[in-house]
Amino acid sequence: MTAKIIDGTAIAQKVREEVKTKVAARAAAGKSQPALATVLVGERIDSRTYVSMKQKACAELGMISHHKPLPADVSQADLEKLIRELNADPQVNGILVQLPLPSHLDEERVLQLVSIEKDVDGFSPINLGRLAQRGREPLFVPCTPYGCIYLLKEAGVTIKGANAVVLGRSNIVGMPAALLLVKEDATVTIAHSRTKDISAVLRDADIVIAAVGRAQMVRGDWIKPGAAVIDVGINGVPVLDEKGNPVISEKTGKPKQKLVGDVNYDEAKEVAGFITPVPGGVGPMTIAMLMANTLRAAEIQGE
Ligand code: GUN
Repeated sequence: MTAKIIDGTAIAQKVREEVKTKVAARAAAGKSQPALATVLVGERIDSRTYVSMKQKACAELGMISHHKPLPADVSQADLEKLIRELNADPQVNGILVQLPLPSHLDEERVLQLVSIEKDVDGFSPINLGRLAQRGREPLFVPCTPYGCIYLLKEAGVTIKGANAVVLGRSNIVGMPAALLLVKEDATVTIAHSRTKDISAVLRDADIVIAAVGRAQMVRGDWIKPGAAVIDVGINGVPVLDEKGNPVISEKTGKPKQKLVGDVNYDEAKEVAGFITPVPGGVGPMTIAMLMANTLRAAEIQGE
């Protein structure tokens, strides 16, 4: 069997077009442009890249972004003061605090300070708590897990009653993905670094969401034939030549790198029914869902 490739780039583009159309309709009706505040503490290159992609997406979709950079040594009190100001600012609909924060800051206290109506990342303990409870609905769902579920639905995968395995239990992806799958009536197993035999857990999995951050860890023969495989991993690995030696970039003089997921794609695509590529699978969905959440924030706030 060769898996159907789930094209995250195309699906994310469709979500973005829908958001753009709705933002334009709001403007035509005299309503405000949805506005996202991005809080970036320090100079991490990956975080800076993600935040600038989020700002660019806002501009493309007709939304406003207010960028709030803070120095790496900002105090907890000053960061909390900024969050309070953003909570109170009627010009701001969504607040995104880029993670991870430097280790001297208390992430939990910061995230619990974000007003739940502006919590477009879905990381507030109230939104996450509601996700974990039956009969309760969060105002916002974390963007990457939301994107994973969206991809499954777009591909036509039946989640209700399926055996789903989530690899990884992070606050940002694994745990909320598992909670979302439970809300969708899947039977969910969470496997992690202490799981005794991950391949045995996967044997009966109709749906796999891999979010462990270990390059190509999941082998093709671990996958149940016909399963839907959603690969959240983005891992840099050296490009190798035919002899298995690293290829050196002429430009930089350093080994060339490529991005791979947590799943061995070439093996898994021969067994799975559906699979997301890396790059071009889950990655583009995170920002698309953030844009959808920011529009929703403006709508909730009734402007
Ligand atoms: N760091 C890694 N992923 C995310 C995300 O989805 N949101 C934020 N705020 N930080 C992240």
